[in-house]
Amino acid sequence: MTMGNKEENLFISFYGEHFISPVHQDISDLNLHLSRREKLYRMLGLPPVAFKGKTILEVGPGGGYNSLAFFVWGADMDFIEPNPKAQEEIPDLLRRHNIERERWSLQKCRLEDAVFSHRYDIVIAEGFIPGLNNREPVIRRLSDVVNPGGVIVVTCIDDISFFFENIRRLISARLTGNTDIFQQKVDTLCEAFSTHLKNLIYASRPVEDWVTDQFLNPALYADLFSIEDCINEFDEGFEILGSSPDLFTDYSWYKDMDYNSKNAALIQFEQKRHMFIWWRLPEGTRQGKDNHRLLGCISELRRASKKYEENISENCLNIIIQLLRKISILVGEIDPFLKSAVEESIALLADKELNPRKVSDVVFLPSAFGRGQQYVSMVKKFL
Ligand SMILES: C[S@@+](CC[C@H](N)C(=O)[O-])C[C@H]1O[C@@H](n2cnc3c(N)ncnc32)[C@H](O)[C@@H]1O
Repeated sequence: MTMGNKEENLFISFYGEHFISPVHQDISDLNLHLSRREKLYRMLGLPPVAFKGKTILEVGPGGGYNSLAFFVWGADMDFIEPNPKAQEEIPDLLRRHNIERERWSLQKCRLEDAVFSHRYDIVIAEGFIPGLNNREPVIRRLSDVVNPGGVIVVTCIDDISFFFENIRRLISARLTGNTDIFQQKVDTLCEAFSTHLKNLIYASRPVEDWVTDQFLNPALYADLFSIEDCINEFDEGFEILGSSPDLFTDYSWYKDMDYNSKNAALIQFEQKRHMFIWWRLPEGTRQGKDNHRLLGCISELRRASKKYEENISENCLNIIIQLLRKISILVGEIDPFLKSAVEESIALLADKELNPRKVSDVVFLPSAFGRGQQYVSMVKKFL
């Protein structure tokens, strides 16, 4: 598998090559879907009334499933979407949901190439910055196109939150290394991991989309985008408004204009980032240095996994297994479940006769999911 060069947009090349947009949502219960969206945006400090009567910019909406809520809340939408399959799906979905044609527009290009005649009060960029190589022009563009006092919403993923998906991805490479046929890979991975996704009871994405996007999409080995990156790379003109999960507390007096909320958020993130490893972990803090050590090992694992996928070799697999042994000790300090799930993963990776059934039937790994994606909203300061 090729992981592309530093400039290549791997989402666009991967989705384009297979003519897919693997980001569908189960919206058979539309009210449930809308309630989920409302909860997310409430956590981000944007209740439905914030959308009423506005035109919102959404970058990378995929097929537009998440955007349905914005229409219901009374917004019109300007979309930017470079993926041809998603460009086909958006009008189709909106027609089926009786959204009038004059309520939305679509620029069929990358954000970097889009043309704007004005700025926006709300800019949505869900699910696409992690996975971009060379994100600097994207962040600059997003920062420019929002009005002073307006809000940007982005998604973050980091090595720790991706850890168990990284393990599944390694297992995927072991299971599908013997075929080049794309659909055959997808079928094998569905067979192996359907039981895992069933444990994530609130998940709303079809299993086929999940395995395709998480375990076959090369973008997941491009640069991720941690909350720390987000705070640092949106410049001092931006302040955090909210996040999901809700991570930050601010006890400063509002009149304290010396308070540096970004620095305070960075410190809190450093102490809490281990919580992203497993979605069941309750709130808790650890020393920054312990989380640094954990992050160091897990980042090394991700780099080794990328190499392994590029060039499947026994030697590389052995390095990975050694790293996992080290990590199993570190995560055991957080919760014994995590250690068991990592040890089980080592056994699967070392199994010379690995098959989908074995992956499906293990005990711990199927319920090991991180707080994979986090959402952050930021306000562009008015003054
Ligand atoms: C993982 S999908 C996320 C889709 C949807 N926002 C969601 O959260 O389910 C990433 C989306 O970003 C789009 N995308 C990737 N690079 C982009 C760019 N440079 N400008 C605009 N959209 C981009 C892709 O085509 C794809 O639709």
